[in-house]
Amino acid sequence: MSSFPLTRLRRLRCSEALRRLVRETKVEVDDLVYPLFVIEGSKIRQEISSMPGLCRCSPDLLPQEVEGIARLTIPAVILFGIPQRKDDSGSSAYHPDGVIQQAIRTIKKTTPELLVVSDVCLCEYTSHGHCGVIVDGDVDNDKTLELLTKTALSHAEAGVDIVAPSDMMDGRVRAIRQALDKNGFQSVPVLAYAAKYASAFYGPFREAAESAPQFGDRRSYQMDPPNWREALREVEQDIAEGADMVMVKPALAYLDVIRKVRDTFNHPLAAYSVSGEYAMIKAAAQQGWLDERRIVLETLTAIKRAGADIIITYYAREAAHWLTSM
Ligand code: PBG
Repeated sequence: MSSFPLTRLRRLRCSEALRRLVRETKVEVDDLVYPLFVIEGSKIRQEISSMPGLCRCSPDLLPQEVEGIARLTIPAVILFGIPQRKDDSGSSAYHPDGVIQQAIRTIKKTTPELLVVSDVCLCEYTSHGHCGVIVDGDVDNDKTLELLTKTALSHAEAGVDIVAPSDMMDGRVRAIRQALDKNGFQSVPVLAYAAKYASAFYGPFREAAESAPQFGDRRSYQMDPPNWREALREVEQDIAEGADMVMVKPALAYLDVIRKVRDTFNHPLAAYSVSGEYAMIKAAAQQGWLDERRIVLETLTAIKRAGADIIITYYAREAAHWLTSM
């Protein structure tokens, strides 16, 4: 091993061109997925107070929204729905003309080249705000599977490109895969929210999607933040059930988990930089406490460096703009 003064590591940092040449990790627009909140109704465009810069809009206003995203060459959007009616079993989630089903049809008609991913979950649609059916005060796993399956199938019928179950029920990937296959949707991939933690970083999202649980919390189905070995079991299980891609969520506080999953499995890996991550940076930037552009690009790079192939981020638009104007 040669050492100083023969070796001077600073030599390769002397200019931007040199740094570009030896750069190990690059975030590209191709890596990004932009989340969209779609609210049932028409001509609605509401700012989300907990997530400045983001809006909820009704399906009829989606064409202009997605054209801008497609123009930035962001490859995909992921959809979250806010229905008019909520009930015990979240029936608006699997209504053939529900808000997400309308949104999928609209986007696939106006910008067919943009991939549409649908979040498959019930929490935005249930009156109690939990991700499944409640029996004796807790979410009943097996009864919930039927409803998740119906939801995924209705998204596929509306023309979705990828379904992404985020409920954390056991067995949902297999149930959804079987239903898709039985109904002629063999080529619709499943992106499983495999290691999804019970995180306080989802706070702003729950306000945006009106999906906060009305009693208790999600710790009986989402993962306990201290556990990484269990995350590998979750990922292993979802892959065994037929997941085509897997996800770790949140991203920034779970970079070690992203790295372990990347080192253990070969499936495409997504990381979800969640609402709380966005809100923290946005709030500090608005105060003038940090340089938003540099912080966002640095954090996206960190998520990629940890091993993610795909990054779901509320900063996708700005990042796409920054990445192409550097
Ligand atoms: C639905 C879902 C949630 C998020 C994505 N899908 C909320 C939750 O589990 O409470 C969170 C996304 C974010 O915070 O940006 N289950």
